Parts: sequence; structure tokens; C-alpha cells
Amino acid sequence: MRTVVDTILAEVFERCRDNRDGTLADYIPELAEVPPDTFSLCVATADGHVYEAGSSDVEFTIQSISKPLTYGLALADRGADAVAAKIDVEPSGEPFNEISLDPVTERPRNPMINAGAITAASLVAGEPADRFERIRRCYSAYAGRDLGIDHDVYASEARTGHRNRAIGHMLRSFGIITDDPEDAVDLYFRQCSITVTSRDLALMAATLANNGTNPLTGDCALAPEHVERVLSVMTSCGMYDAAGDWIARVGLPAKSGVGGGVMAVLPGQIGIAVHSPRLDAHGNSVRGVQACRELSKALELHFL
Ligand code: DON
Repeated sequence: MRTVVDTILAEVFERCRDNRDGTLADYIPELAEVPPDTFSLCVATADGHVYEAGSSDVEFTIQSISKPLTYGLALADRGADAVAAKIDVEPSGEPFNEISLDPVTERPRNPMINAGAITAASLVAGEPADRFERIRRCYSAYAGRDLGIDHDVYASEARTGHRNRAIGHMLRSFGIITDDPEDAVDLYFRQCSITVTSRDLALMAATLANNGTNPLTGDCALAPEHVERVLSVMTSCGMYDAAGDWIARVGLPAKSGVGGGVMAVLPGQIGIAVHSPRLDAHGNSVRGVQACRELSKALELHFL
């Protein structure tokens, strides 16, 4: 039966469909090859109803939407205090790939920019060879299905990711990372290359909305005591140097990725996902931002 949510989703999809603004993320060569006009919207409720519009079964790489998930895994593995000793929770107002540390604390400003995300990857427990599998299983628990990796995107980023290597070595030189920084950077490249659909992303968001438990499988992806911290940094830092405009106009904790995905969470209620690969100057999906603004307005989701 067609519901009011289906109707609103279809209307927002139609209104955003013709927006061809933005460009593909060509700094990772393989991402410049993805079909630019793929578009889908998906909403999943905290009790497991899924609403879809467009090509919601197309797989794409999760990219930076991985950051809150690995941060959550680091919190679970090391505890909140040990993680806070390495990564702050302050918005940086900087681009995602800024080579920077807070000048006073000498820590990455937050886990959503690359410096904090590479540090979070370094904090995942286990031998280097086992850590990626722990991350993949963790993300799969959020999505409720076994997720894979795009080996071509991984190889492309591993070949060209000199800026992230520079960040890794900066972290090592300041003692934030204490092991080989190449391991942490490689793990970060791999986690970014995990593939999802917008349906997966909506269920991941719904899992966060449902206090860390996937509403369809009942599996716990993140203990409730860590969900609050993850959603807090998504709120203040998830959209990078566009986080202020996002929270004013959409009003939801969110995370974007240069694969064109956006995931947003209304705690206790719903998860939203959009996939559209053309990006704005901040590295956020153009239609993803537009669709989330429109959905937030139409469904009255702004949490303030
Ligand atoms: O660090 C990178 O370059 C990527 N693998 C991920 C960046 C990203 O998705 C930024 N977000 N919009």
C-alpha cells in the first residue's frame, strides 16, 4: 500500500532529479569513472520499514560515511576516555583533507576529518591483518547484510593517496599514532572502499536511530553508550566546513562521502540515505544535500 512517506519521497525525488550541478570526485581516478547521474533516496524507520525511490540497489563506495562507524568501533574497543585522549570533538571548519592538528591540544580536531578518521582506524583493536575484517563485519552488522569491497577503488586510492599518507606520517610524528602510520592509512583506504547501496545506508542510519541495533536483524552494531557520542560528532562535524549551514537547514546528524552518499539520522525515528555522485566544493553530494533539505522540511525532521 502506498503511504504518505512513499508520496513525499517520490515528490522530492522528482524535484531533485534534474539537478545536474556539481562534479565527480576525480582526485581518486576510479571515482571519476562512476556513472554521474545515478540517483536514489531511501528512508528506513527505527522499527524497520524501508521506503525507496530511484536506483536504491546500485552499489557505490561508502567513503567518508565510514568515519562515524569506525569511530564507534574505536570507542567500543578502547573506551571513550582513551579515544578522547587521541581525537577531539570540536568542529574544525576546515576541508575534510586538511593537514592539521589543533595547535593547543596537538590532536586531530574531530573524527570526521581525515586526520581524526585515520587516527580512529589506528585505534581499532587486533593485528593489522585482522582489523579490516573486523571493520567490514561491523559495517555489515549496521547494514544487516554481508558487505564487500570495491578493489579497483581501493587500488586507485592506495596508488594516489599521498595527502592521506602525509596526514598519517604527521600523526606519527606527533605521537598520535604510535605504530606504522602506513598500516592505519591503508586500513582507512580499505574502509572507504566498502560498498553499500542507499538501502544499506538508510538501514545503517536507522540502526543509529535505533540506539545501535539493526531494526531488521536485531543485531547490535554499536552499544547504546557510544551511539550518543557518534551522533554528536556527526551533528557538529559530519558535513565538514558546511556543517553549520547543514544543521541550520536540515537539522539532523549526518555524514557524507565522496562516493556521493549522504546518511542522516533522526534519533529514535528514522534514517535517511541519498546517493548521487556529483559533489559540491565541500565534497558533499549536491542532490544529497538538496534532497535532505527537502525531506527534512516535508517530514518535519529538523530536531530543533
Ligand atoms: O580521504 C579520502 O580522500 C576519501 N577516501 C574519503 C573522503 C570523503 O569521502 C570526504 N567526504 N565527503
